[in-house]
This record gives sequence, C-alpha cells and structure tokens, in this order.
Amino acid sequence: MKEKLRKKFAELFGDAEGVKVYFAPGRVNLIGEHTDYNGGHVFPCALTIGTYGAARKRSDNKLHFYSMNFERTGLIKSALDDLNEPKESDWTNYPKGVMWTFAKRGFEMPCGMDLVIFGNIPNGSGLSSSASLEVLTGFILRDLYGFDATNVDLALIGQYAENNYNGMNCGIMDQFASAMGKKDNAIFLDTANLSYEYAPLVLEGAKVVVTNSKVKHSLVNSAYNQRRSECETALAELQKVVDIRGLGDLSEEEFEKHKSAIGDEVRVRRARHAVYENQRTIRAVEALKNNDIKQFGELMNASHVSLRDDYEVSCEEIDVLVDEAWKIPGVIGSRITGGGFGGCTVSIVRDEAIDTFKEQVEKAYEEKTGKTAEFYIVEIGDGPYIL
Ligand code: GLA
Repeated sequence: MKEKLRKKFAELFGDAEGVKVYFAPGRVNLIGEHTDYNGGHVFPCALTIGTYGAARKRSDNKLHFYSMNFERTGLIKSALDDLNEPKESDWTNYPKGVMWTFAKRGFEMPCGMDLVIFGNIPNGSGLSSSASLEVLTGFILRDLYGFDATNVDLALIGQYAENNYNGMNCGIMDQFASAMGKKDNAIFLDTANLSYEYAPLVLEGAKVVVTNSKVKHSLVNSAYNQRRSECETALAELQKVVDIRGLGDLSEEEFEKHKSAIGDEVRVRRARHAVYENQRTIRAVEALKNNDIKQFGELMNASHVSLRDDYEVSCEEIDVLVDEAWKIPGVIGSRITGGGFGGCTVSIVRDEAIDTFKEQVEKAYEEKTGKTAEFYIVEIGDGPYIL
C-alpha cells in the first residue's frame, strides 16, 4: 500500500521525496448504538481497513488533495486562507474541517501540504470512513507540523470538525475508536466522561462477520440529527423530575418510573432505547469478561430489536439480513451496526457456521431484496500509525 500511494504521489507532484504514508482505521461497533450522544456506553473496535494518506508539506500555503477512490475528480486545489467556510461539498471537507479545527484551537499550519488518500472501507457502509479520514488528517498534521495533541484530542478534533464543518451532529464513538484502536481489543467507552477500558475480544471458535447491505439511504444526516434532538428534548423533559446529566445516567427502573414526564410517545421510545441500550452495553461487556458469549449475543439481538422498533433506524434490507442471520444455528448474535438507515450488520458466527451463514444470507437477501450482500470477516486492528 505504501508504494502504491508513493507512486501516485510522485505522479501527481513530481517526486515522492520525504513523503510519509499514514493509516487510520475504520470501526465496527459491537453494541451500544446511539448512546454516545446520550452520555452512555459504547463498545466498538477499530478495523484493519481504513484510510491511507501520503503527505508532504509545501513551501507555500496551498492545499492539494487527491483521492485514489475518486480518480475522475482529479486534483482538488485549495489554500489555507480558504478553510474558513466549507465551500464545496466533496470529501475534502473532512480533512479541511480538521485543519480548520486545529487552527481554531491555536494550531495554525505554517504552510500548506499535498495529500493523496486511498480508503479501503466500502463506501457508505457505515464502517466510519469519514471518521477514519478525520483521524488520519489529525494524525498527519500532528506529525508534519509537530502539533501537541494526544490521540484522544485527535478524536475530539475529528468529532468537532464533523459536527461544525460537515453538519453531522455525531457523537464521539467513531473518531474515538479510530484514534484509540487496539489490536484484538474492543473499547468499552463511557461517553459521559471519556473514561475507557480495553476488553480483549476472545471469541473462541467464533468470528465477527460484517455484512454489507449495500443500502445507502439518503437523508441519513438529517434523520440522525433528528434522533439526536428528540433525545435532547426527552432529556430536558426528564430533567424536570429527576437530576440527571444524560439519558445514560438512568437505570431501566428509573426510566420506567419517570418516563411519564416525556410529553410524546415517539420521544418515550427514543429515550427508552438510549437508556436500555446503555444498560445492555454494560451487561454485554460483563458477559464477555465472564466468557459468556451466548449472553453477549442475546444482548446484540435485543439491541437490534430496540433499534428497529423504538429508535427506528433500521430499514427493510437490514432487517432481512438480521432475520436471516438469526435463523442460522451457529449465529450467536446479529444486529445493525453504526448510524443506521442502511449500511452493515455485525454478527458473531461460530467458525463452522460461517460458510452456511454466507450462503444462506446471501441467497435469501437476493431473493427478498434483489440486492447482493457482501461479507467481511473482521480483524480488529490498531489505531493510526505510520507505514
Ligand atoms: C454514527 C455516529 C456515531 C454514533 C453512531 C450510532 O456512526 O457517527 O457517533 O452515534 O452513529 O451509534
């Protein structure tokens, strides 16, 4: 990969002298969905797929971007003075947003840069290609310009850029998973205070399988932002009767006791998901620690039901994938993963059932939706690194 990027860099910018190649991973979330902007827990892991970048400082203030995933777009030119307003709506708004955020925090880039990127996360699959690009950019800026920032800072800067430069009010999970990933470990993160713990993902005799529905719903951002504001309203209603900072502060019992303070049935369901999903996540990590994979799988299944019925972020195609997965003996758990409205499911499948899983799910999915699913057996990788 390193040579591939350096070669393209040389082709575009004359030579590849002094060019460094970097990587930041995508993520898959095992459980804890739509809890990260509600002060709850999440349990994602970094993948070995993600975004690569070849970068070099320039002597002027120009910024040149090139994506090997969008070769036809060609070179996209900008400059440091142009960062203030997100102008075009293309992929460069992710790196630009990160540069803009660094500058807002007092880290001005003294000169521009040339950047060639290549991502091997399937587009729009909900495996956080954008977060990986944000973390990659932050990681490159830190290395090239010597900015003082921890990996947690890189995650926060990425999230800030996504919220304020790209208009997607995401939580911290994706950027945190990308910046803080650890091989063979999932990250148990409390988004209320960013305390975290690594949990080795030891699945004896089973693997994590990601299934891509290939459905990319439009309006994802607006539907996502709408869910978020429904939760905020529900929180404000609950705060009139109970002293909490986020929905993640409530146990199921406390929620049931106070839920009548929420003035609308839809918001009750949204908040119920956030509260119960947080508790499920805490229990799932406990189950994993006790080597109780069966319990972990059952909590994943319950997570899907809640995301489908209460939070309403699934879609027909994803429900087909999950329903078909549930039918197969040897599937320990299966659910939608990520923001929703399409994208991927995550399943834990016993080794001996993986072939049947792929065959049966693929066949049924094609029959029922006319679409072809894709399967990836996931490897859990590290956070960003230099190649
Ligand atoms: C998207 C967001 C995350 C998180 C998930 C849902 O991936 O970027 O912050 O909210 O959706 O769990």
